[in-house]
Amino acid sequence: MKVTVCGAAGGIGQPLSLLLKLNPKITQLSLYDVVNAPGVGADLSHISTPAETSAFVPGDKNDGLAFSLKGSQIVIIPAGVPRKPGMTRDDLFNINAGIVKTLAEGVAEYCPDAFVLVISNPVNSTVPIFASVLKAKGVFNPRKVLGVTTLDIVRANTFISTLTDANVSNINVPVIGGHSGETIVPVFSVGTPSLYAKLDADAKAKLVHRVQFGGDEVVQAKNGAGSATLSMAYAGYKLAERIIEAITGASDVVECTFVYLDESIAGAKEARAKLGGELDFVSLPVKFGAKGVEEIKYQILDQLNDEEKALFEIAKVTLKGNVAKGVSFVEK
Ligand code: NAD
Ligand code: LMR
Repeated sequence: MKVTVCGAAGGIGQPLSLLLKLNPKITQLSLYDVVNAPGVGADLSHISTPAETSAFVPGDKNDGLAFSLKGSQIVIIPAGVPRKPGMTRDDLFNINAGIVKTLAEGVAEYCPDAFVLVISNPVNSTVPIFASVLKAKGVFNPRKVLGVTTLDIVRANTFISTLTDANVSNINVPVIGGHSGETIVPVFSVGTPSLYAKLDADAKAKLVHRVQFGGDEVVQAKNGAGSATLSMAYAGYKLAERIIEAITGASDVVECTFVYLDESIAGAKEARAKLGGELDFVSLPVKFGAKGVEEIKYQILDQLNDEEKALFEIAKVTLKGNVAKGVSFVEK
């Protein structure tokens, strides 16, 4: 099992690589960054776990990206700039779109069959960019190109458990839509119906708002030094770990992720119809198998309560624009 992290020397990349190094199923951990990857690689390589660590920067052995990607089964991408206070995720588009496009070209050439987990923001646009590059190169596999929205689930679980004193380990709130502000739609009514029912309308509205804008809390607290890194490394690792479980034979892997609704995937046609044919990419619960997404669990769209339905209608409008922006970046 070879896993590559692109952006491995960054705020997310380092703790994420540490968590991956601890997974005994990973035999090769490959680190790529435009700076400092060899130092991070040397440091991690002293940890006494099976994963053999290698690290590359551009130009290494003629092409560091090629060496880092070749043979990868999973590529995780936290490469790019983070927000500062006052910025939206969309403000990162101009810089991060180009970074993600370059990495997508690398994946297309060196490991087109890998699972790709895109963390770089704005996820609502960077995943369409990644998919469009692979499509243009004729190697897009919609079952394996995924936007990481797991931090929204992690936050939803944490915030409701704090409010209700419930054991967070038993909570799993689906979060659908996208990964920015009002495109984030936590579905507490399905994930934790009994806890959610205990809250009054004001508490429910504040809880939803906190999940939607949880990223801002961290950006403000870090005060110019970046955005969520440690909680994101945890969230990115959790999704990667579940995918590794699916690759190695687990049959019960269902997680929310941001995917292209390709009609070859079971449930995608139904999801598209329920979304009024308006969205190509969306985060929904999906079932993973060894070869990627096996099924889109569109049924959740019928289970939303009235407030969640209203939130999802708002989410759709912004999400559609974010997706179109990513697609047109590659077309141009
Ligand atoms: P960071 O600046 O600490 O690290 C980014 C790393 O990317 C740096 O080491 C940089 O050298 C590297 N990099 C830049 N261009 C590259 C390229 N072309 N190839 C390889 N590496 C390259 O930033 P961070 O805090 O780790 O955040 C990274 C990204 O993740 C940001 O875009 C941020 O908004 C996003 N993010 C997403 C989520 C999410 O939930 N999906 C959560 C937190 C942060
Ligand atoms: C988050 O949700 O924490 C990330 O998307 C980073 C950010 O910019 O808020």
